[in-house]
Amino acid sequence: MTRFVGRISAASSDKKGEKSGKKWWHNAVVYQIYPRSFMDSNGDGIGDINGIISKLDYLQQLGINLIWLSPVYRSPMDDNGYDISDYEDIAAEFGSMAQMESLIAQAKQRDIHILMDLVVNHTSDEHPWFIEALKSKDNPYRDYYIWRKPAADGGQPNDFHSYFGGSGWAFDEASGEYYLHQFSVRQPDLNWENPRVHGEVHAMMNRWLAKGIGGFRMDVIDLIGKEVDAQIMANGKNLHALIRQMNRATFGKGDAVTVGEAWSATPADALLYSGVEREELSMVFQFDHIKQFWDEHAGKWRSKPFELASFKAVIEKWQTALAHQGWNSLFWSNHDLPRAVSKFGDEGEFRVASAKMLATALHCLKGTPYIYQGEEIGMTNVRYETIDEYRDIESLNLYQERLAEGVSHEEMMQGIHANGRDNARTPMQWDDSPNAGFTTGTPWITVNPNYREINVAAALAEPDSILWHYQKLVALRKQYPVLVYGDFQPVLREHPQVFAWLRALDSERLLVINNFTAEHLTLDIPHQMQNWHGECLISNYAPRDRLAVSIELQPYESFALLIGR
Ligand code: NOJ
Repeated sequence: MTRFVGRISAASSDKKGEKSGKKWWHNAVVYQIYPRSFMDSNGDGIGDINGIISKLDYLQQLGINLIWLSPVYRSPMDDNGYDISDYEDIAAEFGSMAQMESLIAQAKQRDIHILMDLVVNHTSDEHPWFIEALKSKDNPYRDYYIWRKPAADGGQPNDFHSYFGGSGWAFDEASGEYYLHQFSVRQPDLNWENPRVHGEVHAMMNRWLAKGIGGFRMDVIDLIGKEVDAQIMANGKNLHALIRQMNRATFGKGDAVTVGEAWSATPADALLYSGVEREELSMVFQFDHIKQFWDEHAGKWRSKPFELASFKAVIEKWQTALAHQGWNSLFWSNHDLPRAVSKFGDEGEFRVASAKMLATALHCLKGTPYIYQGEEIGMTNVRYETIDEYRDIESLNLYQERLAEGVSHEEMMQGIHANGRDNARTPMQWDDSPNAGFTTGTPWITVNPNYREINVAAALAEPDSILWHYQKLVALRKQYPVLVYGDFQPVLREHPQVFAWLRALDSERLLVINNFTAEHLTLDIPHQMQNWHGECLISNYAPRDRLAVSIELQPYESFALLIGR
């Protein structure tokens, strides 16, 4: 297994962090690639591995250290690759295993490591294990999946509902039993109570690690310990034992980084997942800051307006809970979420200022930042007029389901415009040529029409762009240990428009101030901070090197001041 010791910076120097608890990935920045939408090299309208390879220099210039690669495995693409039919082959539309190995090698030459997306809560219904399982009740693979007899009335075993709409049980005529699928009917859940499943998955993970990958992002990992009959899907009683077992059998032997997707995680859970002595994962993605802007009943399909007070409370809660144990992952967006600037900033007049402010806030918190492709140029949500233009199975299924329940077309489209997953899946905007330079063919999903203004080529050419702001932030994390290891201390806690905090490490203090509104504000500086001055590490307006009794903040102004320099 690859060891990264040679390239660890002074800030995180001892081997495997045994003495200090420091890890090579603590000052790393991760960039997420959704391959279908990143770069198409062969004109079929679908992004691919060679397309990614062609953009490695761009990513190196941005300074990132890890690529979280959404699934590229062989798949019928019912859920764009989160339905895997062969964990050890590559989907033809994305390329070949030789190209994948070349991507790993060429990235490594640039000091970039690949995090593979590990989707092992379920497989595709085209996976050979499931094909075997369907053959008969006594097939050796039958027990790789979760089967139940019909309920007494002949219906589904219980009323568990799939996340993608409809029942979570699908009936198999041949055997007269139901199988469980928490996602689409084509994504049958694996049975993690079967030790043979563990063995298969661990062996597969080890073969990927042997190829030299940097680690895994683990899809819905909180669901694998499910207690099906009790309808406990997330956080089942075996969950942490299964993860520890996986750690010992696979990535725990080396320096891989692992991040588990855990929608159910509370701070207490996160300490279990990522506490060093627990030997589970490096960190988890938690979604409190996302879910709090969803309606209690309609969920993501009816958004609540952004409200800074609760956003601050959630971020503070997580920063504080994992202050000394565990580790936070920091993200505003991913392939399942709306665009960061559309959700938390301003898509219009203050797009550039607010995208930079969000970038500063993200990189100045304690944890490992994740940049979702296109975020670094301030890409925005898309608003297709008709449902036919959408491609995401979740939006399409839920649109049908909710309309049948009486929700209006307008309300559902509003929900999709605000929170639908295709917002993040429109093609990466490389330049202002047709289809944003993403493809010479017809893209699998329509490009966001704003690509003529918002694109990488324009951002590279503009010294003051969002892109260069991101590049600077990524570099600062390598330079200043206070950004990586400094304690997080909230300041101006009650302020309704400003989110500010202090990072403190030894004698160094970094003050981070973010105006989360489009308003000009007069910010009264607390008495004890009034004379503070130092080096402005980053700002999105004129740099500030000194605080006074009060300061006039511009719309979405943000800056980080290293005190005493
Ligand atoms: C979470 C992934 O991020 C999402 O895209 C996918 O649809 C589900 N898990 C099911 O794999």
